[in-house]
Amino acid sequence: MKIAVLGSLNMDLVMEVERLPRPGETVPGTGFSRYPGGKGNNQAIAAARLGAEVRLFGRVGRDRYGEELLQVAQGAGVDTSGVEALAGEATGVALILVGPEGQNMIGYAPGANGRVDEEYAQRILPWLREVDVLLLQLEVPLPPLALILRRLPPDRPLVVLDPAPARDLSPLPLARVDYLTPNREELAILTGGRAVDQGELVRAGQELLSTGVRNLVIKADRDGAYLAESGGVTRFPAYRVQAVDTTAAGDAFNAALAVSLAEGKGPYEAIGFANAAAALTVTRKGAASSLPTKAEVQDFLRHPYRYPTRD
Ligand code: RIB
Repeated sequence: MKIAVLGSLNMDLVMEVERLPRPGETVPGTGFSRYPGGKGNNQAIAAARLGAEVRLFGRVGRDRYGEELLQVAQGAGVDTSGVEALAGEATGVALILVGPEGQNMIGYAPGANGRVDEEYAQRILPWLREVDVLLLQLEVPLPPLALILRRLPPDRPLVVLDPAPARDLSPLPLARVDYLTPNREELAILTGGRAVDQGELVRAGQELLSTGVRNLVIKADRDGAYLAESGGVTRFPAYRVQAVDTTAAGDAFNAALAVSLAEGKGPYEAIGFANAAAALTVTRKGAASSLPTKAEVQDFLRHPYRYPTRD
């Protein structure tokens, strides 16, 4: 099964803090590390660890971070030959604060990710047409994504779009997106900015479905995931694992969803598998470093009681 990912590659600079600060506040750090990350890179590595043949597309700078990111992705079995290293541009960097229960705050400087453009998109189109699933996120500019969605054949590959970080999706032909996978905060931004609580989920889901997207899966952290369909919403409960760092859980979810769909599974089974991959990811530190293999997810699904649970 072949998967292509077009997206960001970032070096993540991660500080663990006693608690997440409020604006203007300084809080003490309890640890600092550097991890390979970026939503595109994480999704590519996750899909490869879950057994797919993966090709990653994107741009890095011609610098130490760029080289290291490519080495790690290659080490995980990802084909990075389509990633371009640009002279005079820095590799993307993310600054991440991780709180005591694994919750995070992320800011990122796109650098070379921001130079993914329509000319590059046009050049990689022939490869994207060859795969079973294409994974996209929003840490690269929208025009190349719009071009790709317009020029792909109508039914292959299956397109899974992670609207993260959330922004106005109106430039994108959403009718060509098979699965849109916002988390609750992104869903709120995409549907007008009001917080989306449990009761609001159905309304917000229906609103987003009316944009033409084919399937909507809402990632809701501790509440699990929801599949919104025209008739209503189905909930898939989360595993009650002990979180140490939630970074990249959404990426693991999307990659696992893609792998499962590429294997021919239906959305119900695929979302169950994706929930398990995301659950394992939050029990480990870092982004790419926390992504599970297929054997690990299968073991977790067979013996979830062996893993420490939260109250
Ligand atoms: O989804 C997690 C990722 O978001 C991190 O790896 C960081 O690079 C940011 O892009």
